[in-house]
Amino acid sequence: MTTHDATWPSHGGQATSLLARFGLPPDHPLHDFSTNLNPLGPPDWVPSRLADAADGLVHYPAPDYRAARTAIARQAGVAVEQVLLTNGGAEAIFLVAAAHAGGRAAIVQPTFNEYARACRAHGMEVADITLAGPDFRLDSESLERRIERCPVLFLCRPNNPTGTLVPRETVERLLSLAAARGCRVVIDEAFIDFVTPPEEGLAPLLARFDNLVLLRSLTKLYALPGLRVGYLLASELMVRKIKACQPPWSVNHLAAELVAPLLADTAFLARTRQWLADERPRLQAGLAAAGLEVIPSRANFFLVRPAIDVEATAGQVQHRRPVDGSIQALMTESIALTTERLFERLLHAGILARHTHGFPGLDGGWLRLALRDRDSNTRLLGALGEGGES
Ligand SMILES: Cc1ncc(COP(=O)(O)O)c(C=O)c1O
Repeated sequence: MTTHDATWPSHGGQATSLLARFGLPPDHPLHDFSTNLNPLGPPDWVPSRLADAADGLVHYPAPDYRAARTAIARQAGVAVEQVLLTNGGAEAIFLVAAAHAGGRAAIVQPTFNEYARACRAHGMEVADITLAGPDFRLDSESLERRIERCPVLFLCRPNNPTGTLVPRETVERLLSLAAARGCRVVIDEAFIDFVTPPEEGLAPLLARFDNLVLLRSLTKLYALPGLRVGYLLASELMVRKIKACQPPWSVNHLAAELVAPLLADTAFLARTRQWLADERPRLQAGLAAAGLEVIPSRANFFLVRPAIDVEATAGQVQHRRPVDGSIQALMTESIALTTERLFERLLHAGILARHTHGFPGLDGGWLRLALRDRDSNTRLLGALGEGGES
């Protein structure tokens, strides 16, 4: 198994190819812990609301999506001109890259791989700033030199796949340093609604920092990946620049119609927060009790790996090939193999985890597990308990 093994699928889900890889039939029953959608969603009223809105499909959507943007602006406390509605968070990422085409970008890694893909698709040169586990701490001062010649920096908060949340004070320091160096900071808040106690989000900082761009998605909280709706918040000037790269009517009528009622459903958000308060500590404790190393998460997923005795593993790999320079690579490979055995065992037990091949710094040595409803989480813990630690 190589460090960046391109034979693994690039996103969560994609069960068929993973089942085939491990010799299991395509109809092998699976509980999907590889995608991070809110198990409480979508809200019950969504189908009837969509049916009501269907009449409008005979018209083009109003190109400025005024009603949806007004609802977003109100919730975020910004001017409507600072909001751009997008076809999911993914389009927002690609639009930011399009607006900086041909330039340079830095990406705080390990993170969602679409930032790098978007930058490369738009001819950007990409530099990774890879944080080290197991705490994945971002030190804004040490970033100072790295952002010197970099017009754009991508940061995910809370981060996918580590679940870590860069503290607000660090973000503010980073924004000041970046502003002084002409660097735009793009912060993806796709998972911000899962942070408890609730974080306000960074929208208020837009009033102080015009080098800040915030990306949001309605996909994860409302469990509507097929709807394709997200948005971007930035200065009016930046929104105009980014909008110039967006195809017309990029967001369909049904998606646009749902934005205001989704944002207004505060009862759904309250239920979600209750579920997080109940299940996140329970799953975290259960995963640790099952012998896994667990990164404490502020989001709705956990990054885990089999607890590894680093000294024993180093001893084993040294025995295999006593050449100093290759020990680190052999360690990485050995940890990834142990993790792959856990992935396979879970797959056999009907649990689909998210592998981490292709994430710089993780290199297949970790798995990401979504937080799901109580019964599913219990099933996951049961599967981990059977057969002991991998
Ligand atoms: C951090 C992050 N941002 C954005 C997205 C894309 O969201 P959407 O489905 O709204 O395009 C994802 C999807 O997994 C994600 O993990």
